[in-house]
Amino acid sequence: MQPCGGEPLDVEALRRLRRGARFGAELHYFEETGSTNTRARELALAGCSEGTLVVAEAQSQGRGRLGRSWVSPPYRNLYLSLVLRPPIEPTAAVQLTLVAGLAAARAVRAFDVAAQIKWPNDVLVDGRKVAGILAEMETDGEQLAFVILGLGLNVNLALDEFPPELRDKAGSLAATLGHGVERHLVAARLLAELEAGYDRFCAHGFGALRAEWNELSCLAGKRVRIDEAGGSYVGSVVGLADDGTLELRTDDGQVQRVVAGDVTIVDGYR
Ligand code: BTN
Repeated sequence: MQPCGGEPLDVEALRRLRRGARFGAELHYFEETGSTNTRARELALAGCSEGTLVVAEAQSQGRGRLGRSWVSPPYRNLYLSLVLRPPIEPTAAVQLTLVAGLAAARAVRAFDVAAQIKWPNDVLVDGRKVAGILAEMETDGEQLAFVILGLGLNVNLALDEFPPELRDKAGSLAATLGHGVERHLVAARLLAELEAGYDRFCAHGFGALRAEWNELSCLAGKRVRIDEAGGSYVGSVVGLADDGTLELRTDDGQVQRVVAGDVTIVDGYR
């Protein structure tokens, strides 16, 4: 693979590409931090404006969903967090994960990589995870105060650079393309897609994005197993409801809505 990466992110070029935009207008860049989500939360609590962006070259405590960690080696990938102050109820904040997944898949596809979305927060290429989203909200009484939207995107990491336990599950743009990609170009496209998707979501709700989301979903029509805190069950994916829950037809013919849980495609079941 032709190498690309190892150099610092071209932050000035990213600023130029985002001139006049809201997402990334205020940009905080770190060589290394614990977690960009934590940094963004500090900025949000201090009253920063919506769209404030934290980007780091590396994270020492990158966080994933369900208490997992996010592998965050330096100079290869994108680790970023946005401060959002959406005019929505706290219960609708989970839908921002879906908005971000669609935006990330679209951004990756702009680089000729056929990305798909896996409910609720993964972006996959050829079945390998290239991006993950961690949305963390803060409430003020009954109101939503802000949401920190964190996104990790594997851009230039080679497959053999992932820890052994992830080598058959994780992917990157460069691993698919066979050459590296300038990270500031990917970041700029990602921010543009996020801002456009977010504005549509705030104006019209998730229902306005649902058809596009379903089109890029890798789960459409698939048999899946849902692992929840209370146990597991199997069904066929119908699609997403307007509120972003996953609709499954279980074997007794009922349509069941899944709010949270880990989804695994069940190959060759039955
Ligand atoms: C997941 O797939 O479980 C979510 C991964 C989210 C990782 C990103 S990297 C930037 C931001 N900072 C973090 O600590 N996590 C998110």
